[in-house]
Formats: sequence, C-alpha cells, structure tokens
Amino acid sequence: MTIRQRLMARLYDRSMDGYEADAEPRRAALLRNLGQRIVEFGPGTGVNLKYVHEESSSSSSPEWIGIEPSKPMRDRLHIRAAKEYPELELRFADLKDGVIDVEDGWADTVISTLVLCSVPDQAAALREAHRVLRPGGRYLFMEHVAAEPGTSRRLAQTLMTPFWKLVTDGCCLNRETGAALRAAGFGELELIEYEAAKGSMPFFARSHILGSATK
Ligand SMILES: C[S@@+](CC[C@H](N)C(=O)[O-])C[C@H]1O[C@@H](n2cnc3c(N)ncnc32)[C@H](O)[C@@H]1O
Repeated sequence: MTIRQRLMARLYDRSMDGYEADAEPRRAALLRNLGQRIVEFGPGTGVNLKYVHEESSSSSSPEWIGIEPSKPMRDRLHIRAAKEYPELELRFADLKDGVIDVEDGWADTVISTLVLCSVPDQAAALREAHRVLRPGGRYLFMEHVAAEPGTSRRLAQTLMTPFWKLVTDGCCLNRETGAALRAAGFGELELIEYEAAKGSMPFFARSHILGSATK
C-alpha cells in the first residue's frame, strides 16, 4: 500500500462530487441490464455498486467480482457495501502480471469507469475483459480520453500528464482509449464521444467516451 493510494482513497469521493453531478445520469443509463455475473475493473470506493444492487430481485442477487489493486480503495468499498448494500455478494479477484483470477467466459458484464486511464497496459486489460466475458456478454465503459491531436487541450494533456499521474496514482490524460477499444477484437462496439460538463473536471480532462463492446 502506498501513501498515494491512501491519499487517493481518502479524498476520492469528496474530490468527485462535482464530477458526479454530471456523470451520475450517464452511469445510470449505461449500467443497466448487467446480468447476474459482473466483473468490475477498478471499482474504487464502489460508486457503481448502486447499479449492481439494482440487478437484485427477491429471489437472487448478482455475483460481483472486483479487480482493485488499491487496498485503501477496497477498504472503503467494503464500508460502503456493508452500510448500503449488505445483501450483495462481493469478492475481489487477484491481478497478477496483468492477468485476473477469473475463469474464461464467466461474466455477463464487465464494467470499467475511469479506469483505462490508469491501467499499466490498456491492450492487456481489454484482452482480460474479453476473455472473462461469455459470448454475447458486454463490456461497459465510461472513460476520459485524449483530446483531438493538434488542439490546445491535447497539448495541455501532454504537458500535464507527468504531474497528474503523480497526484492521481497513475492517471494518464492523453490515452487514445477509443482506438484501443476498436483494436480489442470485440464483435460490436457502440461508442459515444462527449464532453463532461464545464466545472466538473479541469478542462484538459473533459474529453470522454462511453459505450459498450459486445463479445
Ligand atoms: C479513478 S479511479 C475510478 C473509480 C471508479 N471506477 C469510478 O468510476 O469513480 C481508478 C481506479 O482504478 C484502480 N486501478 C488502477 N490500476 C488498475 C488495474 N491495473 N486494474 C484494475 N484497477 C486498477 C485504482 O486503484 C482506482 O481505484
């Protein structure tokens, strides 16, 4: 556990208040019909558990597996879950050398929100997402991404990334995540580009994508 992980976990929810006012309706629209077996990459403090919980019925509750390398984030997620969603069945799987400890084809849905900016190797993470999905399963994403090349925002992203990575535990501002998704071998890709609301994030982090990739 690093000091940066501890700080990030402690400050995360508070620092995201303004962002969530804009993101919450997008999360709600995206994270529906998740099925009963869900893998989530980088769940952080558990902001998406609400949508996992909505998949519960009187007779069944979804199985959720989180991939979260930060122990302070896992601890906060457990506190949130115990308080707000005590009946959810949650477990964390190990991540070793980019490989997650989940069997092939297990998941109905894989989720990542604001995570592909931080993983060490996007192609490897997407390969894992594809591997653990069942045929027809969906990978749902919402990510901030690189701005158009040649724009002042892209220049700001390039200049800011070394500093930003330090203060945010590894988040890169200038990743071409849409291109990585197109190259990831999914059968179908629905991808929407959008701008997060003014004031919700610094201007250099407002270029976003969200959507689904079906195996
Ligand atoms: C910016 S937070 C996003 C949290 C949450 N998903 C959200 O939407 O607010 C990024 C999370 O990804 C986690 N993370 C970093 N590297 C990862 C990896 N290789 N695999 C899975 N999660 C990772 C971080 O520990 C952190 O909790």
